[in-house]
Amino acid sequence: MSKPLACCINPSILSADFVNLEAELARIANADAVHVDVMDNHFVPNLTLGLPVVERIQQVSPVPLDAHLMIADVDRWAPLYADAGLDSVTFHVEASQAPIKLARELRARGAKAGMALRPATAVEPYLDMLPELDMLLIMTVEPGFGGQSFLDVTLPKIRRARAAIEGSGVNVAIQVDGGITEETITRAAEAGANIFVAGSAVYGKPSPQEAIDALRAKGQLALK
Ligand code: DX5
Ligand code: ZN
Repeated sequence: MSKPLACCINPSILSADFVNLEAELARIANADAVHVDVMDNHFVPNLTLGLPVVERIQQVSPVPLDAHLMIADVDRWAPLYADAGLDSVTFHVEASQAPIKLARELRARGAKAGMALRPATAVEPYLDMLPELDMLLIMTVEPGFGGQSFLDVTLPKIRRARAAIEGSGVNVAIQVDGGITEETITRAAEAGANIFVAGSAVYGKPSPQEAIDALRAKGQLALK
């Protein structure tokens, strides 16, 4: 029997107040990490923030940074996020020309290497790459916007990814992002996810700290 996975809650600052980021970070000090959504209006039809802002967030954040790069030309940009000292840097496989090279480069620069899949991207072509990764991000909404509904159609992919990870004995976390609530977290955790990104379900609540604790309790219960 393998031991139960730890349940991590990474709030997304996409749902925070962008003019008060330092105060917004202080409101989630009990989180496992802060999820920073970088969008360039090319890979996704939305624009958020870039490297200079992420570097400042890194300097003031009470918790580690988990960057989710929804950008084109990610082979060029992602290593610079690793250089900024972030805990993990996640690139979309659909945007990378050389994902194995990029994952190695991120690790060489001291960051955990994460690779993201859009909801309709199959995991099977990438299973041989698992040893190159620290985290697989399975998008549970189309990337680009917060506040969308969880896509249950992604659950079988989460299950297959978890089975492949257990089968090959590698240490790869499965992150899910999009539509995670106190209700959907149970289904995602039962399918095999163990890191949960939550934007509106944390920052949309009067007490983000309490929302994080409630999500973690639900997720941990389903992971046992
Ligand atoms: C969407 C982003 C998500 C988003 C999640 O493209 O990657 O991180 O902020 O927001 P919620 O939890 O509101 O679906
Ligand atoms: Zn994200």
